[in-house]
Amino acid sequence: MKLWGGRFTQETDELMERFNRSFDFDWRLYRADIQGSMAYAKALARAGIITEEERDLLLKGLSQVRAEFEDGSFQPKPDDEDIHTAVERRLQELIGPVAGKLHTGRSRNEQVVTDVRLYLMEHLDRLDDSLTDLQRAIIEQAEVHLDLLIPGYTHLQRAQPVRFSHWLMSYFWMFQRDRERLREARQRIAICPLGSGALAGNSLGIDREFLARELGFQAISENSIDGVSDRDFILEVLSGAAILGTHLSRLAEDLTLYASAEFGFIELSEAYSTGSSLMPQKKNPDSAELIRGKAGRLVGNLVSLLVTAKGLPSAYDKDLQEDKEPLFDTLDTLELALPVAAGMIRTLRVNPYRMRAALDDYMLATDLADYLVRKGIPFREAHHIAGRAVRYGIENSKGLRDLSLAEWRSISPLFEADVAEVLDFECSVERRDSPGGTARSAVEAQISRAWELMAS
Ligand code: ARG
Repeated sequence: MKLWGGRFTQETDELMERFNRSFDFDWRLYRADIQGSMAYAKALARAGIITEEERDLLLKGLSQVRAEFEDGSFQPKPDDEDIHTAVERRLQELIGPVAGKLHTGRSRNEQVVTDVRLYLMEHLDRLDDSLTDLQRAIIEQAEVHLDLLIPGYTHLQRAQPVRFSHWLMSYFWMFQRDRERLREARQRIAICPLGSGALAGNSLGIDREFLARELGFQAISENSIDGVSDRDFILEVLSGAAILGTHLSRLAEDLTLYASAEFGFIELSEAYSTGSSLMPQKKNPDSAELIRGKAGRLVGNLVSLLVTAKGLPSAYDKDLQEDKEPLFDTLDTLELALPVAAGMIRTLRVNPYRMRAALDDYMLATDLADYLVRKGIPFREAHHIAGRAVRYGIENSKGLRDLSLAEWRSISPLFEADVAEVLDFECSVERRDSPGGTARSAVEAQISRAWELMAS
């Protein structure tokens, strides 16, 4: 017997039955669903709609249904349209007709959105923990490798030397903003729509403030139409996750490049690599590639729900059932990708020789221009002269540090013997000691600020 069977005389088409069914993916809301129902049973008793005995019977039955889900003994039936129907059907089997009182004045429209909010409140806390752990892994590696310099790239061309730690910490800050974004989203998730009815509100004197408190929400929703039909709280999570995905993907891309023989700056642990079935020598950075690949589905899930939500007429529409699979997929994806990323960072090994070998003299050309500026000429002109020095080096197959004073003076009489002091990678890095720069003191300050944020 269907929950809504009363006005129907015909059977539902078999394909329609399958098409309509969401139990196969929304069963995982069972804990939130039962939690919501328990609170609602209490609210019904408070409003005098059911007796205290009936309430207790409902609570006992509901906790029994929950136990069946937890220990895997719950037996779904073909008629279980969704998690809400399934729980109520089983409750009826366990406690009899009193189960039929639970849904008094309540709609699945408010129920499902309450469930997803409760589910997210729990899962966002877990996501926050995994993200924090990834950030820890980054700071730990940055602390250990403060001495190492690598080329900093723009346009994937060698640009200026930077500390390896500085490069690594750049990702810490991206993940910090991701964590903030998801935390902010959580505040708007902690709003209770229960008591909104199907769309117009509750006529039984249900105490909505009580429901909100009982379920750990911060406040109640202000409009029942908005309460049952808004999904922007899911969009915010999907959006935060998609942005996080692009950050993870960029980190993964850098790691893939740096682990290649061409760069050779790092080596990924075998624990996070796989081999080739054909080429015996291969050790592939699959962990990083998969993380990069997963960004596609994270972005796709956001776009999917944006398109679903766009243009829906007011209040609940069944299209909204399509919100759950993208959300669950995004949460599942991150639940694996984040710890894999953390493990990959923790176990990577660095190759200081290859890093050193990748530093070429021409990356000091900016320092050369700065040197000339300190001699009193405008930067434009200094840039031009430093460019001439680079061209001279290229044409004569010489690095900047190989030029004699005579050669320097032939490029510009402004060069003096002290030009040699400029041509040093460590000095170049150390000169960039503005806050947020790559000098040791600035990176150390960054790291200690990062540790502070980890404590909050
Ligand atoms: N399975 C539905 C969903 O996920 C639950 C709400 C259904 N409401 C309804 N009136 N059919 O959106």
